[in-house]
Amino acid sequence: MTHRADFDRDAAAGIIAGLAHLDGAMLPVLHALQERFGYIDEQVIPLVAEALNLSRAEVHGVVTFYHDFRRRPAGRHVLRICRAEACQSMGCEALVEHLAAEHGLSMGETTPDGKLTVQAVYCLGNCALSPAALLDEELVGRLDTTVLDGLVARAKGAVS
Ligand code: FES
Repeated sequence: MTHRADFDRDAAAGIIAGLAHLDGAMLPVLHALQERFGYIDEQVIPLVAEALNLSRAEVHGVVTFYHDFRRRPAGRHVLRICRAEACQSMGCEALVEHLAAEHGLSMGETTPDGKLTVQAVYCLGNCALSPAALLDEELVGRLDTTVLDGLVARAKGAVS
């Protein structure tokens, strides 16, 4: 695996060391790392494993299980599509398919120009207006393909 030049190993080690004493430190550590770097770099997995006396596979398993953890740097904008129950009942999976078919974007992917990442989320607290999405900090309800296309266009058209 190629090592990213901007990965700050010392900063990561410091964050891990500062939280490793907690009971159930894994999630707080991973959240703190994502907060600092914007994603969970592959290189932190052995550091976390060693500090918490776990296997790399255990740490990797948690990172891949929780959809909140990003494995790569996000694009400039992040569009989160809710795939939880209420939104499912209102057709969110068709919107996910639309994103793939019309925009070539599967969940977790970033456009080649780095402007937009799309990501699944599991309830945005906006169930009454499902299907729901979040573009950066902007909550959007009653999403349909037209609104979705508009959100993608806005994100991709934004000044980089
Ligand atoms: S289930 Fe989608 S906002 Fe709650």
